Amino acid sequence: MAPLADYLTVNISSPNTPGLRALQDKGALEELLSAVMEERDAVAGSAPKVPVFLKVAPDLEPADIDDIVDVTAKHGLDALIISNTTITRPPLRSRNKDETGGLSGAPLKDLALQRLKDFRAASGGNIPLIGVGGIASAEDAYERIRAGASLVQLYTAMIYQGPTMARSMARGLARLLKRDGFSSVAEAVGSTEK
Ligand SMILES: Cc1cc2nc3c(=O)[nH]c(=O)nc-3n(C[C@H](O)[C@H](O)[C@H](O)COP(=O)(O)O)c2cc1C
Repeated sequence: MAPLADYLTVNISSPNTPGLRALQDKGALEELLSAVMEERDAVAGSAPKVPVFLKVAPDLEPADIDDIVDVTAKHGLDALIISNTTITRPPLRSRNKDETGGLSGAPLKDLALQRLKDFRAASGGNIPLIGVGGIASAEDAYERIRAGASLVQLYTAMIYQGPTMARSMARGLARLLKRDGFSSVAEAVGSTEK
């Protein structure tokens, strides 16, 4: 995929593939990422290297987070994507609340934001982070950026709001940055820490 893609994501965090999330354990992750990065470099030769991101689950313990940060830095991955869906169940009203599988959208928002903050703290701002999980407005995107995300992704909100939401979010984000005196998104990244 490297010659074709703008970036590649190693996604080891889907709850819907049995055993996949075990690859987040340090030993397995080392083996996987060293092979991926070696191949990425070999394919590129002297051409620019395609960025490689690692996408993780929100259902991680503090020790897992430290391990993932270590391995990511060691193998020179370009960013971490935080996070995929959760297998936990925050209080839900839906009659489908006992279904198994990954939960996305609004009920994931607080957990995904907290994990982003955890990864920001563990990495000391040295690894670019991509925030995802329950983002549905410019305010949500801005909160994630200020907590340390250099980029945001969204999936569920697109289902409810449709594709034009990207434009309204970009406009809203520009307004929020201006209101708070930032001249770029990059300037606002991690600014809630200051
Ligand atoms: C039905 C469904 C399929 C998904 N498939 C993928 C996938 O193939 N690769 C991936 O990295 N993430 C996948 N995700 C995770 C989403 O990209 C995203 O991380 C997660 O849904 C949280 O964001 P959201 O609350 O904006 O949906 C999927 C999520 C859902 C709900």
